[in-house]
Amino acid sequence: MPTAAGSTSSPTLVIASRSFGTRIRRSGSGPIGRRGISWGIAAAPYRVGMPTVTARPVLPPGPTVAPVRQSLAWIARPMAFMERCRAAHGDVFTARIFGDQPLVFVADPGLVRDVLTGDPDVLRAGEGNAILRPVVGSRSLLLLDGADHLAQRRMMLPAFHGDRIDAYVGLMRTATAREVDGWHDGPVAAWPRMQAITLEIVVAAVFGVTEPTRAARLRDVLARMLDDLAAPTKLVRLALATRGARRGESDAALEPFRRATRGVHALLQEELDRRRGADGGQDVLSLLLAARDETGRGLTDEEVRDQLITLLVAGHETTATTLAWALERLVRHPAALHRAVQEADDGGHAWLDAVVRETLRLRPVLPIVVRHTTAPVRLGDHLLPAGIDVAPCIHLLHRRPDAWPDPHAFRPERFLDDGGRDAYTWLPFGGGVRRCLGASFALVEARVVLAELLRRVTVHAVRERPERVARRAITLTPSRSATIGVTRRI
Ligand code: HEM
Repeated sequence: MPTAAGSTSSPTLVIASRSFGTRIRRSGSGPIGRRGISWGIAAAPYRVGMPTVTARPVLPPGPTVAPVRQSLAWIARPMAFMERCRAAHGDVFTARIFGDQPLVFVADPGLVRDVLTGDPDVLRAGEGNAILRPVVGSRSLLLLDGADHLAQRRMMLPAFHGDRIDAYVGLMRTATAREVDGWHDGPVAAWPRMQAITLEIVVAAVFGVTEPTRAARLRDVLARMLDDLAAPTKLVRLALATRGARRGESDAALEPFRRATRGVHALLQEELDRRRGADGGQDVLSLLLAARDETGRGLTDEEVRDQLITLLVAGHETTATTLAWALERLVRHPAALHRAVQEADDGGHAWLDAVVRETLRLRPVLPIVVRHTTAPVRLGDHLLPAGIDVAPCIHLLHRRPDAWPDPHAFRPERFLDDGGRDAYTWLPFGGGVRRCLGASFALVEARVVLAELLRRVTVHAVRERPERVARRAITLTPSRSATIGVTRRI
């Protein structure tokens, strides 16, 4: 069994809770449970700077209905599922989704902070994201842990610094103007149109590909791959196949997913071959090709390719979905919309930023982030076993009435003055050393696209009823594609 120290022998007990002050480890030994879950160190003593105590890892309580019913609820009505569980079991509960592997949800801000800032060798995001491997490749930043992750992240960070993002603003405006100028008065399904805009932006920012045919080819193959993988049934098959592979079973079931990504991989490799050795530009690919770690080593082809596909997948549908939800919310809140239009016309950004942040609070694109435990972990009153997944729950944090009065209401003004709020009550981008690499890029992009769109068309609701939250693979999207009415302004 893996331990915090990376050995494969005895498990290590880790205190993740800050309330215990310093983190203390002590090796122990014990039986390894079914499916790699370690219930070990039963009664193994550990000290917390006070008298010796003994403990046995225990899963927090949670729903007792069959895992298959929990999985169906998680797929069909994820928000209702999480809310029911919290109402019944409190801020920390264990669900069993996709098989009987436990997934411990955490919705208390202090405990979420402990998970996200805990030892990344013990609370592993890469292993928690294993379900994405067939899509993004095993060298993807999303899948790496430990020193490997930090080294790759360091090499990618400069491409997302503030000055680089400012350089993309013109591109964001042009892509939006081109798209919106093609619209006719009448109803528009905003979600796919926002995807077209964000895909164009991310492809241009990541590749600097300005040659229209090559860029269009890339966008086409990528959009087809994402559509191919989006059906909930695919998600179930992917999750089950990933769990099987984790347990050392054959990974043949993953083959259809690898097949779906082959076209994108081939095209990325082609782009890479063309660019290696060419003069560097200012796009992300050029920066990745020029990046060196402290030993002077650059990224291999596989590493560059996996990071590219990661950025394309992580950076396009997420922002498009946020934009679609922002429009869906705004057309149903005329006062907020009016203020947004005024600000778009005046060139300001405080209200539009607040609209984007409030949208991400009420409609976070990803409802959870996941960490896989490699040793028993102390979390508040709980001692969690090794070998399970822990999920800081973004959705439930964002609906806490103690942090967000009238939590279900859409009120961007909450974000006009958010000084003093606990940072761990708003986490649409996750946190700790794994916080979304593209968070600043996404916030600027959403604001710029929204402003440009509102300058060009007036928008209104075509139906009064709000759209439901529907699942598309791992993201939560508007059930009727955020359909809005538009009329040209300029
Ligand atoms: C509104 C849009 C976006 C949302 C809601 C979002 C959300 C997230 C979340 C929740 C995570 C996981 C964090 C964790 O595990 O703690 C993540 C990771 C990541 N995101 Fe985003 N993201 C968005 C846009 C983007 C964009 C535009 C890019 C790049 C172009 C991007 C690139 C990444 C990468 C590379 C990671 C992995 C970071 C790591 O593991 O070190 N994301 N994102």
